[in-house]
Amino acid sequence: MSSASTAPVRRVPGRLVAPEPGWTTTADVVVVGSGIAGLTAALRLRGQVEKILVVTKDVLAAGSTQWAQGGIAAALGPGDTPAEHEEDTLVAGAGACDREAVRVLVTEGPDAVRELIALGTNFDHDPDGELSLTREGGHHRDRIAHAGGDATGAEIQRALIAAIEQAPEIEVVQHALAVDLLLAGDGGVAGLTLHVMGEGQRDGVGAVRCRAVVLASGGLGQVFSQTTNPVVSTGDGMAVALRAGAVLRDLEFVQFHPTVMYLGPDSHGQQPLISEAVRGEGAFLVDFEGHRFMQGEHELADLAPRDVVAKAIMRRMIETGQPHMWLDARQLGLPASEARRAGDRVGGEERAAVSRFWERRFPTILATCRRYGIDPVTDLIPVAPACHYASGGVRTDLWGRSNVPGLYATGEVACSGVHGANRLASNSLLEGLVFSRRIAQVLPGELRALQPPAPDTRTPGLVPGTLRRDLQEVMTSRVGVLRNAEGLVDATSLLDKLAGTSADVVDQDSWETTNLLTISTALADAAALREETRGSHWREDFPERDDLHFAGHFDAVMADGATTLELR
Ligand code: SIN
Repeated sequence: MSSASTAPVRRVPGRLVAPEPGWTTTADVVVVGSGIAGLTAALRLRGQVEKILVVTKDVLAAGSTQWAQGGIAAALGPGDTPAEHEEDTLVAGAGACDREAVRVLVTEGPDAVRELIALGTNFDHDPDGELSLTREGGHHRDRIAHAGGDATGAEIQRALIAAIEQAPEIEVVQHALAVDLLLAGDGGVAGLTLHVMGEGQRDGVGAVRCRAVVLASGGLGQVFSQTTNPVVSTGDGMAVALRAGAVLRDLEFVQFHPTVMYLGPDSHGQQPLISEAVRGEGAFLVDFEGHRFMQGEHELADLAPRDVVAKAIMRRMIETGQPHMWLDARQLGLPASEARRAGDRVGGEERAAVSRFWERRFPTILATCRRYGIDPVTDLIPVAPACHYASGGVRTDLWGRSNVPGLYATGEVACSGVHGANRLASNSLLEGLVFSRRIAQVLPGELRALQPPAPDTRTPGLVPGTLRRDLQEVMTSRVGVLRNAEGLVDATSLLDKLAGTSADVVDQDSWETTNLLTISTALADAAALREETRGSHWREDFPERDDLHFAGHFDAVMADGATTLELR
């Protein structure tokens, strides 16, 4: 394989500027993150290793898992098979999935979900008592299990936290930001520095000496100005791993969810998601003329894979000069023969039926829409694509191992290879679940001895937190849904300039912003080098998929205080 351009070398901090640790503790395993991936890893490791510490940047429930609406995909329905789930995952991944990893995901997925049920997760059931399964984009079967209608993540998080609370042997430290890994003489894990916003013994920066670290710290959504991700998603785990010598793979494959509620041009930060499951239940997209533009775009129309729908919305927005499109969900729950097309009048009885359906099936989204003055029973919902999910991350093998001895990664922070260039809907909770179980199968048998940290020769650096908005603007305008060479060159030179600014305040904002900048730099470079359109990576100047030159992966690596990319 060859690349048209040569990978640039970028100077970014080799480690974060931070005070010397004021306290030290030890553990066998530190799990960083408290969503489905982190808590599953901790619960599964329990009884196999002695001292497990779970650290989380905010409170236990603050991560992305809590926000997941649609559900968790697994071949659990009558007639469905892992092979069909595998096929849908591979198609969505646009030729960039690791087939073996996908096979692991889909074959171990059903048992993993059953285990979640046994743990106490209350999934929704049909009136006949069967697990209620719905459909989302790219799936050819109803295979998405959901809970509380559209509150699947919140229910899973509740059940996992309840289980953790019953496990006093797992220590949890909240409000703890992972600053950097401590490395032993062999380059493997010796521990981790943390900043704890606590009172008492563990307050400020401290060091945890440990034998293994499991990163489960989620994604990087805050790289962009508008995202469905919570405020904690600042790419910390990926940046920590990169600075420790881990390989980051597929960073350019950032998924933009097609239907995020449009709140106006100045809206910033976490935006309300309108689950794909709403389209799964019959909603459809229309433009300002009421035209159903997804029909004829793809055999699955409004339920085409996410990248196809996001691109179609963007194209229509550009063609019509409008800042968003519309989702018509005013006919949900009506029998097909009674369902009304956009703009048709709906009678009182039908409206009451639609309202009941919304209340039962999508209570969270309904409440959110109404909070913003939109009643989806009678109004169209304004939607536009926004950053949703990082398909890339810390490159791992089939057992969650990174290339750094003692460092594992699972969930959105990881790149296990299951998502390729475009994650299939509702495969993310499943990935965290399945690969955390796998980590817990191998980690106890390969625990390293506790090692002393070697002298840290990495070049420290820190950029000011005040740069965050500028960085997000650069990434959104030039490395967003639609990319081209000019914008990407611009982005990388603007990011280089930002990297040249030094912070004079050392605080959480500057640590997070430095992490965002580190990841943005590698992401923008990978997007510039990938001169083709594939999955969620959309180049207007290279509109076709190019299997001859680019059917590999860009791996970001850091050495001697600089990052670069390798095409593998
Ligand atoms: C959604 O509910 O549309 C999001 C689900 C997912 O990201 O997999």
